[in-house]
Amino acid sequence: MDDTRLRPDSIAAQALGWIDEQTRAITPPIHVSSTYLRDPDNQYRSGRGYARADNPAFDQAEAVMARLERGAAAALFASGMAAATAVFQALAPGDHVLAPKVMYWSLRNWLMNFARSWGLDVEFIDMTDTGALAAALRPGRTRLVWIETPANPLWTVTDIAASVDLAHRAGARVAVDSTVATPVLTRPIEHGADLVMHAATKYLNGHSDLLAGVLVTRADDDAWKRIKTIRAQLGGILGSFESWLLLRGMRTLYLRVHAASASAQRVAEHFARHALVEAVLYPGLPEAQGHAVAKRQMQGGFGGMLSIRAKGGEAAAIATAAHVGLWKRATSLGGCESLIEHRASVEGVGTPAPPDLLRLSVGIENVDDLIEDLEQALRRAHA
Ligand SMILES: Cc1ncc(COP(=O)(O)O)c(C=O)c1O
Repeated sequence: MDDTRLRPDSIAAQALGWIDEQTRAITPPIHVSSTYLRDPDNQYRSGRGYARADNPAFDQAEAVMARLERGAAAALFASGMAAATAVFQALAPGDHVLAPKVMYWSLRNWLMNFARSWGLDVEFIDMTDTGALAAALRPGRTRLVWIETPANPLWTVTDIAASVDLAHRAGARVAVDSTVATPVLTRPIEHGADLVMHAATKYLNGHSDLLAGVLVTRADDDAWKRIKTIRAQLGGILGSFESWLLLRGMRTLYLRVHAASASAQRVAEHFARHALVEAVLYPGLPEAQGHAVAKRQMQGGFGGMLSIRAKGGEAAAIATAAHVGLWKRATSLGGCESLIEHRASVEGVGTPAPPDLLRLSVGIENVDDLIEDLEQALRRAHA
């Protein structure tokens, strides 16, 4: 069958259908060599010299990601943070950058501290408001607009196409942290984005057993070459075994993300009008900020992440997390197991998370078990 006509879930399930030509194996070998033989005439015709620059263990996972995101190329990194920070390090001191006020907290901290001290002019705005973006863009000075949608930990939604339109007219590139949407639900390059970033630690791998990051580029241009050089020189590369595990995880990406999204929708609807819950934050609820944009931008579900605000404030929220059984009290997201955490405790000073907020990562367990467990935990917290 013509490979270009295959639907993305078929591409993912067979990891592009590659086989190892030497052995006819349908899963790839794990290449661990740190170095490669030079030809007698001093050339490297294999295209590989040293594993900090490149590694055959990356090839298949990068090809799958480029295909799923409809990009020109992809690059694996040691973590989501290694991938994200490479994008900013490819800029020059003095460049103006716009980032959202609501975003993954560790990257926000890095931007506020390291990136600013290194000379980037980082400005945080309400990225869900295209008027605020239009006002903040400085034509010719703004080099990058960073979007995260849906965004940690309030799951606010940013209109990628509208933001790209404004940014490109001002001469700025757009990068999207699409960790929560995954290529299953949103493909930012189709909306005009220049770069897509994933903490592959989360849904792409899906089993809470490795850290990884990936960038996908719309074009194999100079900006991309700078990012690849940064990876090769700073050495924030993924290990060979982790690359292999990531590829294995991605084979079930579509099943897992569809299951988690359907369950998250059920959990959100169940607790949306609950006596012990102040509010549920989830883009799949009609009353949610950005629901109309999410309906356009996300296909097949609204993702597996939501937050609930417990009635009774911080103490009730922490007590609820204390009483769960099936949900696991842990940070991170996107694994098979459902996780719960009191987000303000994790993020500390400057967090946009209200003190009564519990962040939920819905896994692939039976959704009725998840709802019953959270019900009893809320009841016990309020007893
Ligand atoms: C949306 C988002 N972006 C980036 C990251 C960073 O990824 P990593 O922990 O793999 O460095 C995370 C991790 O939680 C995340 O949730």
